[in-house]
Amino acid sequence: MKKLTNFILSVRMYLTALISDSEKTFYDTFSDHYDLLFGEEQERTANALIRFLAGSGLKDLKILELGCGTGIVSNKLSCIASSLIGLDLSEKMLSHALARNRYNSNCRFIAGDFFSMPKLNENFDLVCAVGVLPHIPISKFEKWISDCKALLNPGGIIVLAISPLPWRLFLGRKSPKELSQLDILILMIYNLLAGFLRVDAKIWHVKEIFIRSAIENNGLLFESKDEDGTLMIRASLPDTSANKTPIVKN
Ligand SMILES: C[S@@+](CC[C@H](N)C(=O)[O-])C[C@H]1O[C@@H](n2cnc3c(N)ncnc32)[C@H](O)[C@@H]1O
Repeated sequence: MKKLTNFILSVRMYLTALISDSEKTFYDTFSDHYDLLFGEEQERTANALIRFLAGSGLKDLKILELGCGTGIVSNKLSCIASSLIGLDLSEKMLSHALARNRYNSNCRFIAGDFFSMPKLNENFDLVCAVGVLPHIPISKFEKWISDCKALLNPGGIIVLAISPLPWRLFLGRKSPKELSQLDILILMIYNLLAGFLRVDAKIWHVKEIFIRSAIENNGLLFESKDEDGTLMIRASLPDTSANKTPIVKN
């Protein structure tokens, strides 16, 4: 039954993508169904992210979550946040985020485009983005990392969580570092069906080396870890005397 529901929702998602003229229109239109289709997987990803961050001993952080969607991840992150701002293009997705986080008084949500960041007048210990890489064209990625870096407090980090390719969920939840021929074939079919939601194979899940060079070209340290099938990328400021402020607060 669940598989059938997911199938129907997936078809609906592709149709919505085909008739939408932008990401904002797509997410505004699909927002009421997003959690039904992706909620479970995003909960799992959010848990993986929390474990990844807990492993670094991080807590009491000022957090900026880019592309926060319906606030599933924000809800989990709020327990290690002194304050959290969730930013998203889609007001409809944000209305779900607001409802989900209505008791998390340390969270607030704002509408905005992460390619032309609204003025926030503050910096953050953690800038994170879960499941948004497919929305960042390769040509904009390095500059986007640079914009994220500009928002970091001394000692701050950027964390990108990259879920497995959807079909990989059925194949052991691995985020392959290189695409197999089967992945390429499925991606081609997906891209034919997905309208403007086409996925750039070089950035979706795969080309860790590309992501690494964009991060290192920005003078940041790169680390990656497979956390329960989700690829976690961590970019941190080098530990120079100018930014030695510890991020772990007691
Ligand atoms: C796949 S959803 C992920 C949502 C959420 N992070 C989660 O894990 O459930 C991608 C989100 O990124 C947002 N988004 C895409 N492009 C954006 C942009 N340029 N600026 C801000 N948000 C953007 C979309 O509106 C959508 O809510």
